[in-house]
Amino acid sequence: MKALRTIILAAGKGARMKSELPKVLHTVCGKTLLQYIIDIAKSIGSGKIFIVLGYKRDVVQMTLPKDATAVLQKRLLGTADAVRCTQKFFRGFRGDVLILCADTPLLRKTTVKSLIRKHKKTKAACTVLTMVVHNPDGYGRIIRDESGRVVAIREDKDAVGLERNIAEVNTGAYCFRSQDLFSFLKGISLNAEKKEFYLTDIIALLKEKDLRVETIETEDSKEALGINTREDLAVAGAVLRQRVLKELMDQGVSIVDPQTTYIDASAKIGKDTMIRPFTVIENNVTIGRECMIGPFARLRAGTRIGDAVEVGNFTEISRTRIGHRTLMKHFSFLGDALVGKKVNIGAGTVTANFDGKDKNTTRIDDNAFIGSDSVLIAPVRIGRGAIVGAGSVVTRNKHIPEGKVAMGVPAKVIVGGRKR
Ligand code: UD1
Ligand code: CA
Repeated sequence: MKALRTIILAAGKGARMKSELPKVLHTVCGKTLLQYIIDIAKSIGSGKIFIVLGYKRDVVQMTLPKDATAVLQKRLLGTADAVRCTQKFFRGFRGDVLILCADTPLLRKTTVKSLIRKHKKTKAACTVLTMVVHNPDGYGRIIRDESGRVVAIREDKDAVGLERNIAEVNTGAYCFRSQDLFSFLKGISLNAEKKEFYLTDIIALLKEKDLRVETIETEDSKEALGINTREDLAVAGAVLRQRVLKELMDQGVSIVDPQTTYIDASAKIGKDTMIRPFTVIENNVTIGRECMIGPFARLRAGTRIGDAVEVGNFTEISRTRIGHRTLMKHFSFLGDALVGKKVNIGAGTVTANFDGKDKNTTRIDDNAFIGSDSVLIAPVRIGRGAIVGAGSVVTRNKHIPEGKVAMGVPAKVIVGGRKR
């Protein structure tokens, strides 16, 4: 099989986002737009991946995986120029080149696979992934001749008359025969109005020389939504969120109300766990089996929760580990905590993890019982099976010994140990 390499175009500023952050670093479901596309390139088994960077290149480059090659586009002269910047890496390469735009996070791996399959099967010089949309504004239109063969792509700004109504548009994803791509790229001239070199002009050039150009259409009309504005970002977010939730439900997680549940793409949740409404689960959160989460819970980055844990309403958990069968049922905050098994976190418990300068750790060992409305000022440790009385403030650097009872403000250990 012919070798395949990928070029991801990510140099643009994204002016329409009106943002200091480069467009491709905006996130949906906790993942950057660029990362969605990198993940696709990886998942289809692409060989080398080249990512063209320009605007705030340093900031973007920091987020790239080590095995991707960053290529600098010095001046943002359009998508054809962006591809041209990768040329030196393709000398002598005889395979196919997949080109993807970094601003189309809804693209599916299966669609990109079909694009490549069609390209290989038809032995075309170029295969374009197209999409039929209700409103083609902003997209390049697919121009076909009387026999239905694609002859050109007309950019939105240049489309006139009936062309403006063409509902079939360019998604910005293509597969090229490498040699044809780079030789015809040279023939693209500057678009006078926009002062850019359009990659899409290559289609007409290929047709002039009677080279074969194929197209394949996406299954749904949203799949290649290009993110150009904040509004697009929100639309894509809504679609991706439902995809994340569906995948979790398919794996045996109950999502009571998908309309009010926000789970980032990287979350891992075990079977028979129930996520109740108005719950937000952020990046890199792991939840075990048979847990009950929410309503109104917020689990923040780096949180790991064991099996059969209950996290109830108005709770926030950040960078915290929680062991099996622990209960935290009502309005509480745990930050930077290591919580054991079968612990009871009473209503209103707060870990004071931030001292104004550093974040400090709270340890609560197995079977401990934290009474309602307690404040644990980190760093602090509550021993195995210890009890903290309701309304206590356990001060910094205290270690409540195993099995003891502590109470008061500041909490003092009571002689005689645990009465429970
Ligand atoms: C592009 C296509 C259009 C297609 C649409 C799909 C061209 C000329 N037009 O338009 O046919 O319907 O995508 O979403 O290709 N980029 C660079 N360097 C540049 C300019 C852009 O790397 O100099 C990158 C951007 O970061 C972006 C991608 O190329 O990821 C597409 O650029 P963008 O300006 O968003 O193109 P569109 O106008 O959306
Ligand atoms: Ca775009």
